[in-house]
Amino acid sequence: MAKFDASFAGLTILDIAGRPVDAIPEGGGVAFIDEIRMNPAGTASGALINAAKLGLHCTTSACVGEDEKGAFITDSYKRLNIDCSLIQTTKDSQTSSTILPIRPNGERPALHCRGASDHWYIEDDEFDQVCDARFLHHGGTGLLNAMDSGQSSKLLKHAKAKNLTTTFDLIAPTVHTIELLEDMLPYVDFFMPSLEEAQFISGMQQPRQIANFFKKMGATACVFKCGADGSYISTADRDFSLPALKIEVSDTTGCGDSYCGGFIAGLSMGHSLEEACQLGTTTAALVATGLGSDAGVIDLQSTLDFMASAETV
Ligand SMILES: Nc1ncnc2c1ncn2[C@@H]1O[C@H](COP(=O)(O)OP(=O)(O)OP(=O)(O)O)[C@@H](O)[C@H]1O
Ligand SMILES: [Mg+2]
Repeated sequence: MAKFDASFAGLTILDIAGRPVDAIPEGGGVAFIDEIRMNPAGTASGALINAAKLGLHCTTSACVGEDEKGAFITDSYKRLNIDCSLIQTTKDSQTSSTILPIRPNGERPALHCRGASDHWYIEDDEFDQVCDARFLHHGGTGLLNAMDSGQSSKLLKHAKAKNLTTTFDLIAPTVHTIELLEDMLPYVDFFMPSLEEAQFISGMQQPRQIANFFKKMGATACVFKCGADGSYISTADRDFSLPALKIEVSDTTGCGDSYCGGFIAGLSMGHSLEEACQLGTTTAALVATGLGSDAGVIDLQSTLDFMASAETV
């Protein structure tokens, strides 16, 4: 039997967010804002912390620097009972981090410092440890220099050979991303980019057409996250959309990552695909109500209570 419900591998960042920020003060000026928060974030970590809050027993493979940011991330994980034994540290780079001056409307311009996540690398003989789970979420392709060399597809292939359910999200796609996806998607059960990213990579506009494009490349199913327009899901035999939930938006940082965390939690608890997407949608909506990638999410019961009472957009 697998040791963990889910294993989260990839981009791990310390986010430092403040709101509301209209503009950076002129010269060396100071402006006063309502709130500043630090939290683990990134395509792997943002999914991980929410899945853990929803009750999953999780492990993670990532790389952080030997600095205060890395220590903050692992301390936060330990408080959520997340296994930290596979976290790598490097002296060669600081922990990947982002400063987010959140606009009054919840938009999130980002100042990102690439770092230790570019050094994260899993050797072939470590795959078994990383795959000691029922689900593997691989997140952050695009900002993972060492693993983006082809090792990520080998990890996913290993996970599929061991019968894990694989989910996959990326970030900051370029014209070269498609070459990475050719090797990875044949081992991906749920490809979960934002619709915007999927449009950019495929050069297409319509969700159904884009999903067919990625399914032809090997993905079993696609879940496209469409911001306030909800999400679009495409499997081998059906396509459907789910609306977002009506909320007062504070900060949408990490909405996509938390959707993945909620989705994996739902599937892991035996929910149907549609119910898992609803749990993803609800987790993301809660995250948008506060500052940071896990804001608003407390535990499974309060998330289900919110789902029951919330209206759709
Ligand atoms: N303004 C909003 N109101 C309600 N729900 C929202 C809003 N923005 C996002 N969401 C929810 O969050 C989900 C994911 O958000 P989004 O599509 O912005 O992901 P993303 O672009 O991948 O984000 P990330 O930066 O975290 O990677 C959406 O499918 C939706 O359910
Ligand atoms: Mg995203």
